[in-house]
Amino acid sequence: MQPTWNSERRLTAIARAVLSVPARQALADRQLAPGRTVLDYGCGRGDDVRSLERLDCRITGWDPYYRSESKPQSADTVLLTYVLNVIEDPAERRHTLLQAWELANTVLIVSARLTWEKSKVQGEAFSDGLLTSRQTFQHLFGASELRNYVEEVTGTRCVSAAPGVVYAFKDDAARLSCLAHRIVPDAEWLASEDTASAITALIDHVERRGRPPRVEEMPHNVAELLAHLKPGELRRLVRDSADPAKVIEGGKRTTLNTLLFLAVELFNGRGPFSSLPFSVQLDVRAFFSSYKEACQRSDRLLLKLRDDTYVRGAMNASDVGKLTPTALYVHRRAVDDMPTILRLYEHCASIAAGRPQEWTIAKLKHQGRGVSWLDYPDFDKNPHPRLLSSYHIDLQTLETSHMSYANSANRPLLHRKHEFLTQDDPDAPRYQRLTEAELKAGLYAHPHMIGTENGWEAELIRCGRELRGHRLVRRMES
Ligand SMILES: C[S@@+](CC[C@H](N)C(=O)[O-])C[C@H]1O[C@@H](n2cnc3c(N)ncnc32)[C@H](O)[C@@H]1O
Repeated sequence: MQPTWNSERRLTAIARAVLSVPARQALADRQLAPGRTVLDYGCGRGDDVRSLERLDCRITGWDPYYRSESKPQSADTVLLTYVLNVIEDPAERRHTLLQAWELANTVLIVSARLTWEKSKVQGEAFSDGLLTSRQTFQHLFGASELRNYVEEVTGTRCVSAAPGVVYAFKDDAARLSCLAHRIVPDAEWLASEDTASAITALIDHVERRGRPPRVEEMPHNVAELLAHLKPGELRRLVRDSADPAKVIEGGKRTTLNTLLFLAVELFNGRGPFSSLPFSVQLDVRAFFSSYKEACQRSDRLLLKLRDDTYVRGAMNASDVGKLTPTALYVHRRAVDDMPTILRLYEHCASIAAGRPQEWTIAKLKHQGRGVSWLDYPDFDKNPHPRLLSSYHIDLQTLETSHMSYANSANRPLLHRKHEFLTQDDPDAPRYQRLTEAELKAGLYAHPHMIGTENGWEAELIRCGRELRGHRLVRRMES
């Protein structure tokens, strides 16, 4: 029997040509790993289910309108994708969220459309949302409203994975292992097919992490390939082959990563030592005298985040990024090279607001606390990339906002691209040569003009120049 609803909920289920944003985020965060079972609760027409099946996910879908033949079965990961928005009755909305939570063994992934889509949804006020002319209902959530709502209903601490995507974990170990994966970028292993490549992967890992791994930390195939070697042989291999200078550098980086992890964890609620992911426990043992010492140092780091002079000093000292009178701007490829306090700053913002999937430059304010993620999709190709969108969180009020420039006739654009990157970025020299040529041609003489497309075009004409790729040439008379 079809359910009777006060709105046409079935019409909200669209056909999807590509995997939804929340499912892609969950894949990137390893919440849909092949070993897990997955339920797409409220799966609509089931396109995500089919796409994930093709990626070898053990997934089933259930929907009260489209797939209600059998009862929904509990699963390790439950997806509740854009379902809460369309439920017009707040009590039923809450009940649906609770049902999905009960079906999840490890994690519930809730996504909802956000208030920034307001202009796309027209309709009359109804319940706590809008009823469209097709009689479909939409309650658009604020980014922090969604997170608070899921936390309140499930009674658990959540991770904001992306704007409008929230993870609620059944236990702290799963939450912390997800956080560790998002924070510590060095955890990946090189691919291994035979003993020789497994040894290379092991040495690479030791150099990057600064300590030898335990067997339990190795990917399954590496552990298998190295299983015939005795522990003493492995130790000797590491001692003889790993570059000591790299191991020391790796140790320093891991110490800072551990402090960063513990500080973010405190921002999000810190648990006992035993709740830390196993690898982080080993890092704490290897690089600190005790968990207490590690926590104290990371608490001090978190406190420093409140200190304007300290943060400003870190921005001044940062090897990467462009510092302006209001903020530091850093390219996505370079954020892990910022001083730890600034990485912490950006991570805290991402925990509170969810970092968007598409972004190119992070903007960290130094007066007040606020982070924006700016999307310049053509950063690599265009010598002066145009801004497509910006997502901002004010860390004092936790208010988020989104700006789209997709329909703007005069978009903001970037100059001096090399300044956003690390000096050893392969593209930096080419970008720097262009900046020098532009400076020499007088194109930066009127800074107030060049921040947007029209002003920049006018300055190019005034200086008799035009761009060919990343080369500045004399303008051809038309
Ligand atoms: C916007 S669609 C989303 C479909 C799918 N998750 C996707 O993202 O493509 C909302 C879906 O929620 C389903 N739905 C409505 N009320 C529900 C409830 N109480 N429990 C589970 N699903 C529900 C509808 O049948 C509809 O297919």
